[in-house]
Amino acid sequence: MIPPWRAAGSTTEGEGANSEELGSDSAMKRNSRLPWRAAGSTTEELGSDSASITKVLIEDCGDQFVGVKTLVEVAGGTGTMALAIADAFPDVKCTVFDLPHMIEALEKSDKVAYVGGDMFELIPPADLLIIKWVHGWSDEECVKILKNCKEAIPTKEKGGKAIIIDKVMDTSDTTGKERNEAEWKTLFDAAGFKEYKILPALGLRSIIEIYH
Ligand SMILES: C[S@@+](CC[C@H](N)C(=O)[O-])C[C@H]1O[C@@H](n2cnc3c(N)ncnc32)[C@H](O)[C@@H]1O
Repeated sequence: MIPPWRAAGSTTEGEGANSEELGSDSAMKRNSRLPWRAAGSTTEELGSDSASITKVLIEDCGDQFVGVKTLVEVAGGTGTMALAIADAFPDVKCTVFDLPHMIEALEKSDKVAYVGGDMFELIPPADLLIIKWVHGWSDEECVKILKNCKEAIPTKEKGGKAIIIDKVMDTSDTTGKERNEAEWKTLFDAAGFKEYKILPALGLRSIIEIYH
């Protein structure tokens, strides 16, 4: 399959494609049993959580975006983070990536690109990927997502990085949903990442940088 951003002539340095579909029925089924749905979180609540985190990310951790030309917010929902980053760093080409039906339903902005697809199959390429709230996925699912993140970014030497925004617990959670550092490292190793850095910058959550 030719990814839509390639068909559109874009490269890792270039723009993402607009509202193309990379999704599958299995992705929609998987999404319907996710923990944030069970917890009753709404798109608006998730968007406002993203807004407060993005404020800290931009104001206190702006060095994360130095040298970044392209950014994809993976499973970005309403794209709150990508939009705020595009406003603060207009030279960074930002793309919101989510399931096709989510992307279709979004009110679009011309400040960012939108790509619909399934992160378990393929993630659009970028210098920097940001993914928030991974802890609802099983270890096996996380490794699949992380492997696709690795495929989508250049090596560290070439300026590639993925950022996970999630909790890093002090202890081990028996359900395996909220992970301590050793559990995160196991996932990064299994997905083939060579290096990680945890920045406890966001209250209960951390910025976890991963590189290959
Ligand atoms: C908990 S929400 C997080 C949204 C946003 N990142 C935030 O923190 O506000 C999870 C998002 O993942 C998306 N998602 C679920 N499965 C996906 C998949 N297979 N590929 C791409 N996105 C997916 C959902 O549509 C939803 O927007």
